[in-house]
Amino acid sequence: MTVIVTPSGQVCGATITGVDLTAPLDAADVAAIRAAWLEHHVLAFPRQAMSDDDLERFTLAFGPFGDDPFIAPIAGREHVIEIRRNAGETAPLFAENWHSDWSFQARPPQGTCLFGVAIPPHGGDTLFADQHAALDAMPADLCGRLEGQLAVHSARGGYAPSGMYGDVDQQTDRSMDIRPSESAMATQLHPIIRDHPETGRAGVFGCIGYIIGIDGMPDEQARELLFELYQWQTRDEFVHRHEWEPDMLVMWDNRSVLHKATGGYDGHERVLHRTTIGAG
Ligand code: SIN
Repeated sequence: MTVIVTPSGQVCGATITGVDLTAPLDAADVAAIRAAWLEHHVLAFPRQAMSDDDLERFTLAFGPFGDDPFIAPIAGREHVIEIRRNAGETAPLFAENWHSDWSFQARPPQGTCLFGVAIPPHGGDTLFADQHAALDAMPADLCGRLEGQLAVHSARGGYAPSGMYGDVDQQTDRSMDIRPSESAMATQLHPIIRDHPETGRAGVFGCIGYIIGIDGMPDEQARELLFELYQWQTRDEFVHRHEWEPDMLVMWDNRSVLHKATGGYDGHERVLHRTTIGAG
């Protein structure tokens, strides 16, 4: 088949047509999709009525499965988690903060695949912030203060018992099966500015949230710098807004973009199935 790439016209993102993801992809299609992914960072594949088998097969065409901590997989699958919000749910939205998936791991995942199962009639867009564009346009002074610094990443603010999805959240009506753990207290260092491991293009990796400090810097000074960085790296001009459809697959490159969920669909169910493409 012929992979057709239509750029979103925004800072990043493209739509891919001309492929059938309910069948195995040949090597040429995988190579074309990978090239488009590395260039556009976020790819949307509309009108793909994929099963979980199809989703897993697609994921494995791009790397091994990643390790998904703190969220139980769906029944019968080891590597598929469900991003769910029931129509009447009142728990705070899941993933409404900017982040790069599992950046607190020693070898964070290359990418994430998310498939739209039940999509509300309005709202529920996912936002992506292009971290190459953010670095390219960054004022020299800010860039100079970040260059060479190592960020301290941790899942504690989200998934420790004291975190956002911890003991208090377990008392809410959240429909997702989140499993907080003391293991979320672990920390991991990654450069704040780094070259993309495949393209070599420099970008910012991660943001305050999973980043809880800067190695060797006093906490208050680090917080101020990380907040200044956050305000820059999530500016509107670096953001691509993705609108979902049922039966749409999106794959994004966690090494190139931050992402966050949005609301605006109260009273409607939203369900997506997610796999993680592990570090190669
Ligand atoms: C996620 O961060 O995987 C969820 C994104 C979304 O629900 O839009």
